[in-house]
Parts: sequence; structure tokens; C-alpha cells
Amino acid sequence: MIAPSELLTRHADIFTDTRLLIAGQLLDDYPIELAKVAEYAAIGVAHAGQAARYQHLAGDNTQVLLSAQPKLEKSYNTLLLYIPKAKQEADYWLNLCLSQLEPNADIFIVGENRGGINAAIKLLEKYQLNGRKVDAARRCSLIYAERGSAEIAFSMDDWWQSFTLNLNQGAIQVCSLPGVFNHGKLDHGTALLLDNLPPLDGYGLDFGCGAGIIGAAIAKQTGASINATDVSMLATLSTEKTFRQNQLTAQVFCRDGIDEFNQPFDFIVSNPPFHLGVKTEYETSRRFIALAAKKLKPGKPLYLVANSFLGYKELLESEFSHCEIVTDNRKFRIYHCYN
Ligand SMILES: C[S@@+](CC[C@H](N)C(=O)[O-])C[C@H]1O[C@@H](n2cnc3c(N)ncnc32)[C@H](O)[C@@H]1O
Repeated sequence: MIAPSELLTRHADIFTDTRLLIAGQLLDDYPIELAKVAEYAAIGVAHAGQAARYQHLAGDNTQVLLSAQPKLEKSYNTLLLYIPKAKQEADYWLNLCLSQLEPNADIFIVGENRGGINAAIKLLEKYQLNGRKVDAARRCSLIYAERGSAEIAFSMDDWWQSFTLNLNQGAIQVCSLPGVFNHGKLDHGTALLLDNLPPLDGYGLDFGCGAGIIGAAIAKQTGASINATDVSMLATLSTEKTFRQNQLTAQVFCRDGIDEFNQPFDFIVSNPPFHLGVKTEYETSRRFIALAAKKLKPGKPLYLVANSFLGYKELLESEFSHCEIVTDNRKFRIYHCYN
């Protein structure tokens, strides 16, 4: 159980018989336990893996919505927001939920001190709401506010950011929603990968596509047929918009990992994840690397960027007969692998 959920166990009775909306950065199964004591509940989640898990565990009184913009069909008088670490994403979810709650609904926001909860009271003020801390433990806080009765609007259009990149592959306009990697600026690891990619053609996969920069750059340069996949609906919406804005096309998927891709690829590119919430997490990348070797045609490449300290070489060498470090600027390494 994550620390914010541990804090909530001291307050589980608050949610009994409520019409409960749960959203935000959901990383464990405790939301399901809380949903069970509610009159009915909705869990709005943008993460395909968590959504699948919740769909499997949820009781009959709970609707699980995999979406970046869940639309509620019923009326909800209580919100529990697990605050995302990125402040803009926290504000995005708060605005989205407030716009759909009943007037005077109870609002609870929970999170880790190093995971953004200290910004919660300020975020509430933006909507003229007074938040107050009702509990603190396990380096987490629980904040409460009453929604009030004023109209609070939410428009997706307010949340897009875009910027233009002049790459070796051509000029690309990058579009993204809050919380998406590379939101509003180019990450150094992505930039190093793009600088070191040869022209790649054929049927390719961009794993963990984020705002779609890598796939879009390749498609722009060679016209390759891109499959872009990410576990986050915020990311896949961003990738779709990036491709559209650049008059490019891609097949975009919201999936956890690459297990479901069956047609062998001519290339795979990735800046794979190593964070889950505020923690470092390697398992997703380990699983991805093991499967990538099996999803490529013989002799066809995987290009991957990773923080130099992650030391993926051994793992890559255990799956690929050929593995070279193309470049290493001490912060990031680019790997080129094939069988
Ligand atoms: C380091 S970011 C890279 C984003 C983008 N490729 C770039 O370089 O700008 C890693 C991405 O992997 C995604 N991700 C995390 N876990 C995943 C999973 N299990 N399956 C698919 N994508 C995942 C994250 O949502 C994030 O967008």
C-alpha cells in the first residue's frame, strides 16, 4: 500500500455511503476498498494498467473509467483526489473533477509531501475554495475543502501546450497535456536519442511515446509507418495531436507494455520509463526490453535512451546478440541493439 493510502486508512469511515469520485495518481488497490464502502463510486484513471486492474477488482457499485477526461453519468457528492506530483497535472484533475461534482460536495486531497500535496491549498484557492489540513502522517497530508455552489467550468482547450522543435529529422510542433513527459520543453535524453538516430523506415514502434516526439520525427523524415503506444491516456491524446498538427499519421495505442503487438517491427525506438509516481521503477523497462527482442524482425534495430546510471547494458546483452553504446554523455546513453 502506498503511503497516502496508509494515511487514508485512518479515515475510511468518511467515505461510507458517499457518492464517491476517486481520481488522480492511483498507484495501489486501496481506491477499490474505499469504493466498496460508498453508496456508489467512479474511479477516473488515465493509466491503462491500473484501469484494467481496477476493472478486474471493482464491485458492482463501482464504475472504472479509463480516460483523460472521464465524463460522469451519475451525481457525486464526494471527491478523493490522489494528487499527482506534477503541479499542472494536479490542477488539471482538480479542475476536471470540480466541474462535475455536485454543489457543496466534500473534497479530499491526499498525497506525499514530496509528491505535491503542499501545493493543494494553493490550487484550491484558484477555484475560490478554502482548503485545510485534516491529518498528516507517513510524510503525507490529507486536505479537506467544501466545493461550494459556484459554477466551475472545465475545457480541454485550456490545458494544451505546444512548442516547435527544429530537429535533424525536420521541424516538429509538439503538443501535450499536463503530466505528459516533455510537456512544454524537450528532455535531454529524448534530444540525444533524436540526434543519434539514423533514418528509420518501414513498420516501427515508439514505446512510451509521451507527446509523440520520437515517432513524429521519424515519420517526418522517412514517412515510416509508426505505431505509438503509452500507458497514459494523457500521453496518447498528446501523441495524436502532435501527429495531427504535423500532418502526419500514426496508429496510437493506450496499452500497458507491448505484449499485445503481434506483427514484427522493422525498428523499435524508446525513451522508456523508470519512474512510477515518486519512486524509481525498472520493471516496466525490463519487461519491455525482453519483449522488444522478440517483436523485431531479424537484424532490425532497437534504439533506446536511458540514464547512464541505469546500466541497462547487461540486460540488453542478455536479449540481443549485438548491443553497442552509440554515445554516452555521462547523463544519458544511447543503445543500438539487434539480433
Ligand atoms: C521517459 S517518458 C518518454 C516519453 C517520450 N518517448 C519522449 O521521449 O518524450 C516514458 C513514457 O513511458 C510511459 N509508460 C510508463 N509505463 C508504461 C507502460 N507500462 N507501458 C507503456 N508506456 C509506459 C510513460 O507514460 C511515459 O510517457
